[in-house]
Amino acid sequence: MQFKTIALICFLAITVPGVYAQGNLSGLADPLTMNNGSKVTTARQWANRRKELLQLFTTEEYGQSPARPKNMTFKVFESSNNALGGLATRKQVTVYFNGKADGPQMDMLIYLPNQVKKPVPMVLQLDFEGNQTLSNDPDVKLSTSWIGRGRGVVNNRATEATRGKHPNENVEMILKRGYGFATIYYGDIVPDYDDGVTNGVRGIYPEPKSSGTDASIMALYPELQGRGDNFSSEAAWAWGLSRALDYMETDKDINAKKVAVFGHSRLGKAAVWAGATDQRFALVISNESGAGGVRIFRRGKGEDIHHLATAFPHWFDINFRKYIGRDTVLPFDQHMLIALIAPRPIAIGSAQDDLNSDPEGEFLGGVYASPVYRLLGTDGLPATKMPVVNEPVSGQIHYHIRPGRHSVMPYDWQQYLDFMDKHLK
Ligand code: GCU
Repeated sequence: MQFKTIALICFLAITVPGVYAQGNLSGLADPLTMNNGSKVTTARQWANRRKELLQLFTTEEYGQSPARPKNMTFKVFESSNNALGGLATRKQVTVYFNGKADGPQMDMLIYLPNQVKKPVPMVLQLDFEGNQTLSNDPDVKLSTSWIGRGRGVVNNRATEATRGKHPNENVEMILKRGYGFATIYYGDIVPDYDDGVTNGVRGIYPEPKSSGTDASIMALYPELQGRGDNFSSEAAWAWGLSRALDYMETDKDINAKKVAVFGHSRLGKAAVWAGATDQRFALVISNESGAGGVRIFRRGKGEDIHHLATAFPHWFDINFRKYIGRDTVLPFDQHMLIALIAPRPIAIGSAQDDLNSDPEGEFLGGVYASPVYRLLGTDGLPATKMPVVNEPVSGQIHYHIRPGRHSVMPYDWQQYLDFMDKHLK
């Protein structure tokens, strides 16, 4: 680095500490400025701006998703009112996306707390390795879908050894606090590997009409026949969450108007996109969603677009690849994605050692979405300075950081449940 550059950085660090610590965020796009440059100052104008931003993220990052399938059916294939030692009623439901028993489908595992009057508010999430991994409950159907790898996975399929491999303390905590819990193995919707862009549920949907495709990018991918806003895996997982909500609207034991959509890591990215695209979700929880989730790219810290788009090429749409190497000059950023959820509550949780997700970048996602929350009459995130560990800040946007690594801990759920109590009860 040249002496002049070092001197400039030192000068900035001393005179404008906020700027240096945050990364240079000057030039960060303003969610409250329309594409034509006019300022958004009313809720009515925001409704138009929201459409622009939805279009932007759909085209440039996550891709188009099909509408709710017309022929979709649901089947409750198993239930018991004496699950988890009497704590819960269990229901297992298959969603047949095209109404055909041999077509693409996903299994939902639902627990409803027995001690609570129905209909109950819910947590809905995707899980990483099959519904049977979340508790020792012997009656949960063993996943038969493709699974990457992990303890108890043989030839990319779950075995009995995977049952209960993740401790169920979080699930029990949720139930004891009076919420139902529903989970779906994300690989039922689209298996998490790159086969181009057509595997899983995507196979049965002709790609929706293309829009806004960048010709120079498309020249690199002739197989996409001119489309850059393809139905990405993250979009498909989010779409699956919306289909789960479609089921919940038909279940009289569930309060579908009070569903918190939760996700960790890559599934946090999906949960946030689900909350952004489907306004029926009452509340959104991002646990360490990081890059492509709630974290601001422009800081240039943590995982970059190059890694995201090359290590996991199927997660985002093809258009997103044109931003490889352009993190710090991106014309839009993830605070605008959070703004799409406004004024609905969102909780953002980080872990101190999870530098890949860039905790402060996640915090700043909430900070820079807050002007939209405030325009809509709420407080947004009531902080501008990064809090220290174990000191949550909570308004309509919540943020906490805890010690430890990239994972979901009971501490995280305690914060999310407090937040849900405040906003859903
Ligand atoms: C990788 C990836 C992250 C992602 C994470 C996960 O670490 O870089 O973007 O969130 O996997 O899903 O566990």
